[in-house]
Amino acid sequence: MRITPQSIEEVREAAQIAEVASEFTALRRVGARFSGLCPYPDHNEKTPSFSVSPDKSFYYCFGCSRGGDAIKLVMELKSFSFAEAVSHLAERFGVELRFEGRSPEEERAAEKRNARRRSAYKALAAATAYYHKYLLKSPAAEEARGYLKERGFSRSTIEEFRLGYAPPRGRPGFIQAARGVGLGREALEAAGLLSSRGGERFGDRVTFPISDRRGRIVGFGARSLGDAKPKYLNSPETELFNKRSLLYGFPQIAEAMRREKAALVVEGYTDVLMLYQSGIKNAVATLGTAMTEQHLKTLSGHAEKIYLLFDPDTAGEKAVQKVDDTAELTFVAARLSAFLYVVRLPEDPADWLLNHSGDEFVKLLDSAVSIVEYTIRSLAEEARGRDAAIRYRVMPRILEYVQRLIINEPTLEQEARRLAEDALQVSPARLDGLLSSYKASTHGDRQKAEIPTTQNSSRQLVSNSRRNEGREDPLVEAGRELLALVLARPDLASSALRSGIEAPDVFDAPVILTPDDFGDKAEGRIFALLADRAGEDLGTILSDERARVLLDEISAIRADGERLYPSEASLRAAWFRFASLSRERAKLLTEDFDEKYRLHLEIKRLRQAAVEASNLTLES
Ligand code: CTP
Ligand code: MN
Repeated sequence: MRITPQSIEEVREAAQIAEVASEFTALRRVGARFSGLCPYPDHNEKTPSFSVSPDKSFYYCFGCSRGGDAIKLVMELKSFSFAEAVSHLAERFGVELRFEGRSPEEERAAEKRNARRRSAYKALAAATAYYHKYLLKSPAAEEARGYLKERGFSRSTIEEFRLGYAPPRGRPGFIQAARGVGLGREALEAAGLLSSRGGERFGDRVTFPISDRRGRIVGFGARSLGDAKPKYLNSPETELFNKRSLLYGFPQIAEAMRREKAALVVEGYTDVLMLYQSGIKNAVATLGTAMTEQHLKTLSGHAEKIYLLFDPDTAGEKAVQKVDDTAELTFVAARLSAFLYVVRLPEDPADWLLNHSGDEFVKLLDSAVSIVEYTIRSLAEEARGRDAAIRYRVMPRILEYVQRLIINEPTLEQEARRLAEDALQVSPARLDGLLSSYKASTHGDRQKAEIPTTQNSSRQLVSNSRRNEGREDPLVEAGRELLALVLARPDLASSALRSGIEAPDVFDAPVILTPDDFGDKAEGRIFALLADRAGEDLGTILSDERARVLLDEISAIRADGERLYPSEASLRAAWFRFASLSRERAKLLTEDFDEKYRLHLEIKRLRQAAVEASNLTLES
């Protein structure tokens, strides 16, 4: 779909070039035109040679000879594409864009969607202003003001980032105020401002408005003042709010990032603010998720170097997950020719900066290493000091990473080889040997299926180590018990396998399990087989082709199961208990805090369902 030429012309006419330009530089009127310092980041000047002519809707710099219309200015200074620049200006100056090649119905549907989006934007802007003013002025915000002060935020930071405070429950809040300016429930709903009960979603929290890269507010992060859980509550995913592509602070830091050609990516909203306040104005934060490809695309359009700053709190399986996510980023970054560096911090930036200066923080960046180095070193570190079995499993992951770089990113091959030699303590010739035997081992279908990507191989590492450690992992144990019950009474389990088990007191929908929920690969495969053949008797199931390689495991589990008393209630109890443990694992592994919190609630309910079911077991 293309914007019609008429629409483009309309935007050109409507855009006030002086207003657009003064977003980037201070302008002074000189007769019929305006003059100021050139806003192009690579043109540093002391005397103004940038000139804007509102009559001609044109700008020109006599110093660097660049000139054009408002669309061009926005494209160049905001790194927008032509279409992005046109729609940005259309929005700003109230032009309704038309598109070519749409049917009347499509046109109507688009109009409806646009109207909904417009009112959502309006609601978000109004909420930002409301919460901000409430924070600064209301007697009921005393505690919130005190909290922010104690955290070290200055008034100017609070203003620049438009922090706010949403009235606590029981007081008149934004919902009432919105009604006064003609914003109804529908608009607030589309803006993600309501809780599931229809009240103020962010009540009694400090609000951090989150903007898209054009500077429009699309949602909030909101922190509780005390220990209320969750610590942060974010906007729900809406048409406008997509966590995986948004970066906190982006519009505020874009200019500094372009000037310095570098961006820092931190983990918390408060970190962005404290860095900004300490003079480091090119940091953004992800929204409680790991860095994604979209984030990287956004940043690499402006910055040549991107530093990922990790908090020091990562441990165990989560660290493994982080290394895997980071390894994946290597390939994305290489494709975008972005230079990615990783820094492990001694402390959260926000906390650290309470006792250190911005200049000192900049020195921490000296310890940055390339993402390739970070990945290989972290893998090696994981193996250090561990027993031979673990070292033996880490090695293939290093080889796999190097191998993938050799195939996909030959420019990084030399660095990767050198680091791998160092990490594995081998000579170049020996590394070559290891790489070719690794390659050979991943040929042939069976093994290949085991290690296709880093992601899976980490799972494999987890499940293998579990198997070696025997029966200690509760998830593996619970999976085994569940399978034992199913194998003992396939007839009792058939409907559960097909469509899950209901727990009407605590869940609206039945609780469904999938093979991926299992902590052990063989268990997952057995479950997949049983679920596919739900309702059939064991003899038929075991004649399935897939059962052949699983027969040993199946008979071991069945033998274990002989001590169990299969009944509908015991199956329910085992089902919910297993589900809660598998959600526990998912909660541990996810980097996404909203997902963590969702899982946390689900686990609580699953436990309750499990307890209720086992009470029944005792009664019967
Ligand atoms: N986060 C979230 N939900 C939570 C916890 C964290 O969305 N329950 C996200 C937020 O984006 C937060 C980031 O993860 O900014 C980092 O979390 P954390 O380090 O715990 O928070 P801080 O930003 O350091 O917040 P504070 O300094 O206020 O404790
Ligand atoms: Mn933090």
